[in-house]
Formats: sequence, structure tokens, C-alpha cells
Amino acid sequence: MEVKTSLLDNMIGVGDMVLLEPLSEESFIENLNKRFDHNEIYTYIGSVVISMNPYKSLPIYTAEKVEEYRNRNFYELSPHIFALADEAYRSLRDQDKDQCILITGESGAGKTEASKFVMSYVAAVCGKGQEVNKVKEQLLQSNPVLEAFGNAKTMRNDNSSRFGKYMDIEFDFKGDPLGGVISNYLLEKSRVVKQPRGERNFHVFYQLLSGASDDMLKKLKLDRDFSKYNYLSLDSATVNGLDDAASFRTVRNAMQIVGFMEDEVQSVLELVAAVLKLGNIEFKPESRVNGFDESRVKDKNDLKEMCELLGIEQSVLERAFSFRTVEAKMEKVSTTLNVAQAYYARDALAKNLYSRLFSWLVNRINESIKAQTKKRKKVMGVLDIYGFEIFEDNSFEQFIINYCNEKLQQIFIELTLREEQEEYIREGIEWTNIEYFNNAIICDLIENNKNGILAMLDEECLRPGTVTDETFLDKLNTVCAEHQHFESRLSKNSKFLTDHSLPHNCFRIQHYAGKVLYRVEGFVDKNNDLLYRDLSQAMYKANHSLIKLLFPEGNPAKVNLKRPPTAGFQFRASVGTLMKNLLTKNPNYIRCIKPNDKKAAHIFTDSLVCHQVRYLGLMENVRVRRAGYAFRQVYESCLERYKMLCKQTWPHWRGPAREGVEVLLTDLQVPAEEFAYGRSKIFIRNPRTLFFLEEKRRQCLEDLAALIQKIYRGWKCRTHFLLLKKSQVVVSAWYRRFAQQKKYQKIRCSALVVQSFIRGWKARKLLRELKHKKRCEEAVTTISAYWHGTQARRELKRLKEEARRKHAIAVIWAYWLGLKVRREYRKFFRANAGKKIYDFTIQRIMQKYFLGLKKTMPSMSPVDKSWPARPYGFLDGTHQELRRVFHLWRCKKYRSQFTEEKKATYEEKLAASELFKDKKALYPSSVGQPFKGDYVEITKNPKYQKLNSLVEDKVLLADVVSKINRANGKGAPRIFLLTKKSLVLADQKTGQVKASVPLLDLSSVSVSTQSDGFFALKLKEGAMSAAKGDFLLSSDRLIEIITKLHCTGAASADRNHINIDISDEFLVQFKQDKVCVKFIQGTPKNGNGVACKRKNNRLLEVSVPSP
Ligand SMILES: Nc1ncnc2c1ncn2[C@@H]1O[C@H](COP(=O)(O)OP(=O)(O)O)[C@@H](O)[C@H]1O
Ligand SMILES: [Mg+2]
Repeated sequence: MEVKTSLLDNMIGVGDMVLLEPLSEESFIENLNKRFDHNEIYTYIGSVVISMNPYKSLPIYTAEKVEEYRNRNFYELSPHIFALADEAYRSLRDQDKDQCILITGESGAGKTEASKFVMSYVAAVCGKGQEVNKVKEQLLQSNPVLEAFGNAKTMRNDNSSRFGKYMDIEFDFKGDPLGGVISNYLLEKSRVVKQPRGERNFHVFYQLLSGASDDMLKKLKLDRDFSKYNYLSLDSATVNGLDDAASFRTVRNAMQIVGFMEDEVQSVLELVAAVLKLGNIEFKPESRVNGFDESRVKDKNDLKEMCELLGIEQSVLERAFSFRTVEAKMEKVSTTLNVAQAYYARDALAKNLYSRLFSWLVNRINESIKAQTKKRKKVMGVLDIYGFEIFEDNSFEQFIINYCNEKLQQIFIELTLREEQEEYIREGIEWTNIEYFNNAIICDLIENNKNGILAMLDEECLRPGTVTDETFLDKLNTVCAEHQHFESRLSKNSKFLTDHSLPHNCFRIQHYAGKVLYRVEGFVDKNNDLLYRDLSQAMYKANHSLIKLLFPEGNPAKVNLKRPPTAGFQFRASVGTLMKNLLTKNPNYIRCIKPNDKKAAHIFTDSLVCHQVRYLGLMENVRVRRAGYAFRQVYESCLERYKMLCKQTWPHWRGPAREGVEVLLTDLQVPAEEFAYGRSKIFIRNPRTLFFLEEKRRQCLEDLAALIQKIYRGWKCRTHFLLLKKSQVVVSAWYRRFAQQKKYQKIRCSALVVQSFIRGWKARKLLRELKHKKRCEEAVTTISAYWHGTQARRELKRLKEEARRKHAIAVIWAYWLGLKVRREYRKFFRANAGKKIYDFTIQRIMQKYFLGLKKTMPSMSPVDKSWPARPYGFLDGTHQELRRVFHLWRCKKYRSQFTEEKKATYEEKLAASELFKDKKALYPSSVGQPFKGDYVEITKNPKYQKLNSLVEDKVLLADVVSKINRANGKGAPRIFLLTKKSLVLADQKTGQVKASVPLLDLSSVSVSTQSDGFFALKLKEGAMSAAKGDFLLSSDRLIEIITKLHCTGAASADRNHINIDISDEFLVQFKQDKVCVKFIQGTPKNGNGVACKRKNNRLLEVSVPSP
């Protein structure tokens, strides 16, 4: 929602002077002061903006501010120059009304700044686009150029515009800028040759000298030093805060943007330089024959340089400074110039040169910014013109300026009143005559064609005979004496004869803004604005296109003997055109006021402001504005603003706004004469009434605020409560749900329990029934089984009975038969019966024995020694035989399960048993040990690699044995290898073969009966390996070694068994000797091991521990 605001919101003082109550000069100034202290530099008088120069930059011209004021109603926001610019622009764009913005105020009041703000605001809000932006840029950049040439530092303003400027900005139907036209008024050209104390010449001179490059200065024949130039005052050559060099660059850049050609810029600068040079030309008197002094140029150097610059023939110009040609009726008369005249001529030339250059610049800019279309354009004019000037010493310039301001005031009054009037008519309000001072009479005093002051002056200037300022004053005294606003000491009006404030050489005019005393001195001269023809012709002869262009009257071909129009005349004409122009437009006023003379922020000098308020006619302005109705507002906004003051209109009024306002005002009992109803606006006569409404509104707003607060608090509490309620419902719902869930779960659990109990009970019942049924079935089965059993047993019994009976019968029968037979055959019985009974009995016993044996057979294990006891003594032999046979059979069965390998092992074991059982005490300990054969694993041991390679056959046995030293009986470890064909003895550590004996060379092996491991390998005599004799060795695995040796020998068919001798005394062949090895039982000294000792040459004794 758009927030409707009003100027009346947060006002400091009053934002619109129309609302000032009571209205007086003091209250007016006090209001300005109050607002100024709060940095509120803008205040309205209706639609007029008063602008106080803040002399400091305020943050109120930002892009945000532009946006804030864009498309808002004039009175909607606090007073601002943007509001005025926006109003003007929108009125131009939307209502097709040409606008003019009239900015007035005294020098330094902020007019030029204001015009720039207006232009920049319009540039910011109007259309955008490449072409449009270029136009905008050119329009904005025309300012720096004109300011450089037309502004100067004055006592009042460091950047004072020394010319009046009116700029028309042209727009198309959309409101996009198309171009512009600038008009300039009355450049203060006297400044070129002379500046008041503390002031400067036009900026451009200083800018050129500070900012131009050395090269350029050389070209322009200039020196950077200001002091070298007579026309430049040195007092304040540099201004604080002004950087002339930078400005020069800005100006050159601006000229480029505006569209100046490089050579044009150069020409312009040459002219500027020429003016400086001109000022340095000095004259000296030279006596002539006729007694008159003739002026001569003192030092021709500057003249020469200037002529070079402008392409002027030096002699021509030099002559023009010494002679003056007067042409009258085809006659030429040449008179000499004295020094003073020469200086006058020089200065006149300089002033003319510069002012014409300035006009040319304006025209040139106009050419660039001219709209490129012939279509109808909308126009917004901005007038930045000097305000009313009242100095102590006022001259022709002030007279002209004040005349201009009188004219402006006039159109202001006219337009304001006209507008006021038009608005009343538009709104259908009865027109009440407004009393105001009309300054037309003053304008008439000045501009009247017949007896106006300007006309008088022209007349004086053109009159033949001696003309002086005094004669001009005399004329005025006679002609204007009766005028109410003209005052002069010597006028016919005796009133002033004794007025000592009026000097004799002055006249005074009562301007609308106050009385101004003008000194007549210089009026005639300034009005004439004389430039000797010789000079203009000299200029025209210049070989410089721009100079030629500036002095067209110097063209000898177009000699015009008519005097050129006077300055006054020219100005009157241009003011006339301007006024005509302004009258066709919708005016917008900005009245600038400077708060102090010190160019300082925060200082508000009452007297100074009062003075300005007076001469700007601001009080007048307020009065005119208030003459009818002080305040007006469209019904809608009025109703919107005050609707809360009446019950019927609050909060909404459904009907038309006007009726709403009527109801409102009636309800508030506002006196009927205090307001009038227009068509679209309500008009309020007195500010008091408005303030009454405002005060009521303020009070009401407080109540409303309380009401809003109340409603808001109520709403807040209610919402809070509702929220709590809602939450409570939610919580209780959840809780109930939870409780129900719990209850349900409990019920469900109980149901389950009950269910399970019932099911259990049912199941048990069923089980019981089933069990009962089963038992019944079982009982039936059992009973039937028993029954069948009984039946069967009974049957069996019966059958047995029958069988017994039959048997008994048979026995009886047999007995009886026997008896019968015996009775019959008693006589034969004794001879055969005995043998038969015996056989039968024996047979019976044997039968019983075998059947019994069958039941008590021992296990199939060959080592099972058990055997049932014999039942009968006479079966002893049979019994033993059966045991043997069974054992053999069982051994055979056992053997038949053997693998080949196991068979060989057992065969070896068997061989060992055959060889050693009961023959050697060592044997029993060997029975439990399996014959592994290889204990050394030479194939795997890398140490014995070589040994392994030497042994061709498969190794049957490999073990470490002790070789008994033949000399001392001590043992040394040797590896003993047995293959199919030979046996090998090798060193245990190195694996080096010590002896290799083919088995064929082995004749026999001798061992003892004891538990020792000694054995002697006896070799066949004459065999190759027998050179060293037999081997005496010892090993714990003697049984295995000997058995393997024995079996290996037996395995090959080409060999006989190796004999095994077992005795405790045998001979061994040691080299040549035969030594007896004898085994004795005894305890050797070192533990219970076997000790071997060489007793003598023939005896080696081995003591074996007794078992
Ligand atoms: N609105 C403003 N904000 C800040 N400074 C301002 C403002 N208006 C004027 N000034 C200051 O006052 C000086 C004079 O203003 P200027 O517009 O040149 O005066 P005028 O054209 O009326 O002689 C400016 O150079 C500037 O420093
Ligand atoms: Mg200015």
C-alpha cells in the first residue's frame, strides 16, 4: 500500500509560508531561520520554492532523493527543489504545458546551483537511451563551458555568473529531451578590463594560464605568470577550493562533448590570449605640431604578438590606436587620439572582443544542442538571472538588472494572480478581488517608449551637441519629476529638494523591492557602448576566421553609417522577447536567498535575509497567495487526511469525496466563511483553520494509535489465547489418544492372556482327551496284545502240552518200546549196546564242546592272548591245537589286510625277531620302535648334497652311528648309509664319504648278546674295501641296522645271506691285526653308559651295564 504523506507531516516551522500565522516579516524570517537551522533550506510559498543557500553540501540531492520525489504530488513530501522540478516536468509531459523555471535571487544566493539541480533532476527522470543520453550530456556539459567564460569570483560568490542565462530545453511528446536553446543577457564585460578589489576576471583567463600545457602556452605566446598581465587582478588570482588547472581540463572535455572542433577551440583560446595581450599594450603621448598630444604605443612587443596571434597587420591596429576616422555624409574626417582615448579604445576593443566571443560561444553551443527535428516540441525554460541589486553605488548595470527584475516581478504577479484566478474559475469559486501592489507603473517609468528612462537615455545619446551624464539627469528631472516612483534632488518635485540622502548626481527609483539610488555617471557611455570604427575594421581585416566573424560591421563593403543600437535599447528588446516568451509558459519560481555575506554555513544574518525577503517581494508573494484562500487540497487527499475526525467518515467514506469533506467540516463545526467548496478542491481561507484541523488530527491520531494499540493488543492476546486453546485441544487429543492406546493395549494384553489361558485350557483338555483316546487305543492294543499273547501262550501251552504229551507218549512209547525191546532183546543187548552208548555220549560231548567254543571265541587281534578254558581234560590237546590254528588263521587274516609297504616293514620286524629274539638283550627294547630307515634325510639336508649325489641307489637306511676308534675304543659320529648294493660311511659334519663298501664284500656281522649297540662289519678277505680292515660301529638302532643289512643281502638273488654272529666275544680284523672284542658286564665308571676300552693289542673290552 502506498503511504500517503503530506507536506504537513513532521514540519519544522511551516513548510508553506502561506500557512504562517500570524503573517509578518518577523514571523516570516523566523520561520526561515528555524528551518535553515534544521537544514531545511527549502520552503514553499504555495507553489513557489524559497531556497536558502546552505553553503555546505547537503545529502538531499542523491539518486534516492530523486526517486523519492519522482511522480509524487507537490505537497506530498517536504519542500524540495526536486518537487518543483518534478511538478514542472510532469506537467510538461502529461499536460502538454510548456514550462519555465524562474530562478531569481542575488548574487551568491544559489541560482546557478538551483538551475543545475533542476536540469540534473529532469535529466535523471526523463527518458533514457543512447541518443537521449547524448543530448542530455550535451545540455549538461554546456554549463562548464559557459561558466568558464561567463563566471568569475566576486566578493559575494566565488563562482558568480556574470551574465543572465535563459535555457530552453526541448522535449518530444514522450518527454525525452531533444535539444535546447540558450539565450544570454548582458555579460558584465567591464570585468574584462577592470575588476573590483578582491574579485577576479573571468575564470577562463586563469584556467588557461594554469591548465594549458607549456606547448600550448608557447603557441599562444603566453606566460604562465598571472602577474605579467594587466587585465588580471592579482588580489585573488587563486581561489580557495577552485582548481583552475583541473577546471581547464574539464572545460576542454566539455567543449569536446558539446561538439566544438579542435580548431574552433584553438581559435577561442587565441582570442582569450589576444585579450590578455591587448591589456598589456600601453600608450605614451607624443606632441604634435598642432599642440595636441597624440598617443603612441609604448612597447610594441605585445602589440606585435597579439597581431601575430590574430593575423592582424600590426600597422593597421597601431594606427587605430592613434587615429579615429569619423564618417559623415560621405566625408571622412580623421582625428588623433590622445592617450586617454587610446586606453579607452583599447579597453573597448577588449570588452567587445570578449563579449562577442562569449555570444559566439553561446551561439555555437546552440548550434550543437539544437533539436534535430522540426516537429512540435515541448519546452521547459530555465532562467538563471541576476536578482535585484542594491549597492551603495549603483550604476547603469544595476539599473538594467533591476529593470529586468521589475519585469520578472510583473509577470510573476500577473501569472500568479492569473493562475489563482484561473483556479478559482476552474473550481467554480466566487472570485474575490485581491489587493496587491502592481509594479507595472515602475516598469512603465523605465521602459515607456515616450518618456521612459531608457528612452530618455537613448535620446540623449543620439542627440547632437554635447552630451553628458548630467544633461541626461537634467532631462530625467524634467520628464519624470511627477512620477510617483522617481526621486531626484533637482526634479521639479519640491519634496526632495531638502532630501540629503539624495546626492545631486543621482536619481532614485522606488522599485517594488525597495528604493535604489543610481549615480548617473557612465550611463551615457555605457549605453553608447562605443567601439571606434577603425578598430572594428582593423579586426575585420584580421586573417583569423573567428575574429572576422565577430566584427561584421568592420566590413568596409557594408559600411553602416547608422549608429548601432544602444545597450539599453538592446537590453530592453531582449527583455521584451524574454517576457513574451515567459508569458506563454507555465511559470515555476525558485527564489534564492543567501543567509549571510560570509559564504559560511550555519550563519543566518537576519538583516541580510530581511533585505532579500523584501526586494524579492516574498511577503507580497504570500499576501497575493493568501488573498483568496490560503490553502487548497483536492477532496480525496483532504478526506484521506482528516477522515478520522468524524464518525461518519471514519474509517471509510463510501460516497463521493466532496460529500465526505462536507460532512466532515459540518461535523467539526468549522465556520462556513472559512472554506469554500471547489469542483475538485476544498479551499481553506485561513491557515488557522488548517492548523485547527491538523491539531484535531494530531489528537485523533493519538487516540487512534491507542485504539490501534488496544485492538492490536486484543488481537495479539486473542490469537495467543486461541493458539493456547488450539494447542490444548491438540495436547488433550494426543493425550487421549495415548491413554486410549494404553487402555487398548492393556485390554488387548488381558484378552491375549485370557485367550491364551482358554486356549491352554482347551488344548490341555484336548490333549487329555487325545491322551485318553490314545491310552484307550493303547489299552485296546495292549489288551488285544495280551489277549493274543494269552491266546498264543495258551495255544503254545496247548501245543507244548500236546508236544509233551506226544513226546511223553513217544518217550513212554519208546520206553515202553525199549522195555518191550529190552524185554524182547535183553538177550542181545549186552553185546553191542555199550559201544553204541559210548559213541553217542562222546559225540554228544564233542558237539557240546564245539558249540560252546563257538560262543566263547576270543577277539581277532593277533596280540590277544586269551583263550577259553578247556572243559574236559581229555580235550587238552585238541584245545591247544585249536588255539594255535585259530591264532594262525587270525594272523593270516590280519596279514591279508597289509599294504606292500607295511608288509615289508613287518617282514623286516619278523626278520629282526628271527635274528635277535632271545639272542640279544637289546632286542625287546626295539620291538616297539618302528623301523623308519632314514633318520638323517640327506636328500633334504643341503649339507649332504654332495653325498647324496654320490649315492646312486635309493637309500634304505641312513643314520648316524659311532665309529669306534680301533686304537682307543672311542667313538666318532659317522653317517651310515645303506643302499641295495653297498653301504657308505661318511663324515657327519661335511658329508664327505669315508668308506664305501659293496654289500658283496661283506662276509658277516658280529654283535654281542648284551644290550649294547656294538656291531662289527666283517669284510671278505681280499676285497677292495677290506684294506683297512673290519668296521667296529655302535648304534642305538643296531637291531634295525643289522636287520636291514641282513634283509638287503638276502633280497638279491646273486648274494647269500649275510651271516649274523651273536656272541660276547668275537674277532675283528684291524688292518693286519686280529683283535678280540670282548663284552663284559659291569658298572663303568662314567654313568651307566657302555664303555669301550682297548686293553691291549689283541683285546678290546666293552663293559655293558648289567640289566
Ligand atoms: N543547494 C546548495 N547546496 C550547497 N551549496 C550551495 C547550494 N546553492 C548554492 N551553494 C553554494 O553557493 C555558491 C553560490 O551559488 P551560485 O548558484 O553560484 O549563486 P548565484 O548563481 O545565485 O550567484 C555555490 O558555489 C555553492 O558553493
Ligand atoms: Mg549564478
